[in-house]
Amino acid sequence: MKKLRLGVLASGGGTNLQSLIDCCADNSLTAEIAIVISNNPDAGALSRAENAEIKTCCINHRDFDKRAAFDNRVVQQLQESGVELVVLAGFMRIIGPIFLEAFPQQIINIHPALLPAFPGLHVQQQAIDYGARFSGCTVHFVDNGVDTGPIILQAVVPVLEEDRADDLAARILIEEHKIYPQAIQLFAEGRLQIEGRQVHILPTDPNLGSR
Ligand code: GAR
Repeated sequence: MKKLRLGVLASGGGTNLQSLIDCCADNSLTAEIAIVISNNPDAGALSRAENAEIKTCCINHRDFDKRAAFDNRVVQQLQESGVELVVLAGFMRIIGPIFLEAFPQQIINIHPALLPAFPGLHVQQQAIDYGARFSGCTVHFVDNGVDTGPIILQAVVPVLEEDRADDLAARILIEEHKIYPQAIQLFAEGRLQIEGRQVHILPTDPNLGSR
């Protein structure tokens, strides 16, 4: 099976990126990371990509007057790299119509809460403050809302009495590193079918053979 070309957008430390790098390396993910783009020059994700000899590009949003100009620049870079799936891995910028038109149903995100509960920012603290007993993470297609697109996979973790936001974030990240590669592998195998809000997971195609 041909490897799916990923474009990873990341703003932070890049542990999700690292799990994707590792899964590509051990062939549990039939994909290759064509480019890693960050809006943050200091993102740990950029050094992780460089260490793995993956092409990187920093496009600092502060260098652009208008969001559309930034979005166009990122989209151009993704297209020049032949990206087939845009993977948001801790990318802290809103995805606008320019992205969505360039990559229809080809942008996915991971969010550190069980959507539709707690969209937005600081969501581990939100789950604790709300008194939720469980939280988790969600991989979803990106649409024109904030954390509202059709859900692909979710994983659940407990929220413990003594948890601070960092504790819960760390417990959730362990699950993120499992379900993000799984979701991308399903996409790579052509097994995700969107129908309204539902994402159907199709059975394995026997013609694909073993990987
Ligand atoms: C992850 O927890 C991811 O779910 C979250 O940022 C973190 C990035 O960590 N994403 C969002 O909150 C998106 N709104 P990482 O840089 O170590 O992968």
